[in-house]
Amino acid sequence: MDIKKVLIAGCIVLAAISSKAQKATNAKLYHEPYRPQAHFSPKTMWTNDPNGMVYYKGTYHLFFQHYPKATVWGPMHWGHAVSKDLIHWKQMPIALYPDKLGYIFSGSVVVDENNTSGFGTKGKPAMVAIFTHHDPKGEKSGSSVFQNQSIAYSLDEGATWTKYAANPVLKNPGIKDFRDPKVFWYAAGNKWVMSLATKDRITFYSSPNLKDWKKESDFGQMLGAHGGVWECPDLFPLKLNGKEYWVLLVSINPGGPNGGSATQYFVGHFDGSKFIPSSNQTKWIDFGPDNYAGVTWGNTGNRKVFLGWMGNWFYANDVPTLKWRNAMTIPRELSLKLTAGDIWLTSTPVEELDKIVTKTIKVDAELLAKNNNIFSVIKQTPTQYTLKFNTKAVKDYSVMLSNDAGEALVVGYDAKNSRYYIDRTKAGQNKFSKQFMPKAYAPRLSTSLTSDFELVVDVSSIELFADGGLSNLTGVFFPKKPYNRLSIINNGMEIEHLQIQPLKSIW
Ligand code: FRU
Repeated sequence: MDIKKVLIAGCIVLAAISSKAQKATNAKLYHEPYRPQAHFSPKTMWTNDPNGMVYYKGTYHLFFQHYPKATVWGPMHWGHAVSKDLIHWKQMPIALYPDKLGYIFSGSVVVDENNTSGFGTKGKPAMVAIFTHHDPKGEKSGSSVFQNQSIAYSLDEGATWTKYAANPVLKNPGIKDFRDPKVFWYAAGNKWVMSLATKDRITFYSSPNLKDWKKESDFGQMLGAHGGVWECPDLFPLKLNGKEYWVLLVSINPGGPNGGSATQYFVGHFDGSKFIPSSNQTKWIDFGPDNYAGVTWGNTGNRKVFLGWMGNWFYANDVPTLKWRNAMTIPRELSLKLTAGDIWLTSTPVEELDKIVTKTIKVDAELLAKNNNIFSVIKQTPTQYTLKFNTKAVKDYSVMLSNDAGEALVVGYDAKNSRYYIDRTKAGQNKFSKQFMPKAYAPRLSTSLTSDFELVVDVSSIELFADGGLSNLTGVFFPKKPYNRLSIINNGMEIEHLQIQPLKSIW
């Protein structure tokens, strides 16, 4: 008997059984009412912000604010998931647990290639997590120094983590809101740079080794939106026509353009110490109610991929899901675009989403005229829709998804007020919170005569990317029954292109 062969065969059988078992578990776990089928959500229990996003050795890591004991916010842990393609996710064991210094709030992960921290070796760099330790006891006692920055490292590609014995590494100077460190290697200055949310501004710090931090500058006290506290910054370079600009993302809660949480951005220059914006205009990466605390993956070269939390602090704890609560957006590719004399950030679904497209249905004018319910051709959510008008002037239009329970979600363009909208007034359950905003608007920024419109619709979320991702709206919804009708109302514009792509479940 060839023991080796038997062992290999045994392993194959075991692998087949375990992948079958995994599929069976997923079939139960990931198919509850309202569970997104094309978006990441935790296996069970609560999530908010995406954290520690970094690409390393062919794997995209996603850590996330997680409370594993309830479907509401609580003592924060870092959950962990990995993906090879940004679309299919595998949840891993919890990466960071609360400890005597407090809960593990948002932060980032870097790969310390030069072993500046000394946690790894030259050939075997450490992954280093930089996060906020939030001390709930300190907060209760009325102290103002209960948020401090700490670090932890992993020598096994993110599987297990060791907290640094001398935490915290950046102590609170007396600012109540002092959190969400996002760190990157600033090669031109041979140092690490941290963007930190410090109440009503972003403070930049630098470090040679991730342990000793020096304040560089403050930004934003008099700029942008200030209807709430600033959170979750991210600073990164992006090129436009070969020229480098720096983009600073800043989440704000409340004070978003449609109420509650939202993420604004600034485009400008960064010299390793100061960020200088090139325009004073307040700009939003997404105007919708449900895209918050989003940041980008580190280590992806010139490509910048963003992921947000599909929630709003106004009602995220109350949405009517049962075993799990909240999901992330579709990962989005970021670019810069010159429009109306200013530089704007665009975001569109990553091309990897094509991996789960099951078929492409091109709907021509004839089919559209004939078939009032295009949905009968699709028969399922999730789906990606792309719609392009060829027109001399963009007029009103709308796309309506509805069901047999008389519920309807409408998304469209209002020409009179030059704005896109999502109307969730009749989209499903919305009595779970008084703060649920049924309508959301995004101004049209594009001056182009053609208009294109891309929608990613999942079981309980819609993401609109209009004009190549210049005006975006993301919203969650909770219908009694799945939508099974789709109609397009168009005020006489020529549809150049309407494409419908059903998406396969990622679970
Ligand atoms: C943003 C945020 C962060 C904080 C985390 C706590 O949604 O409030 O500022 O680190 O959530 O869960």
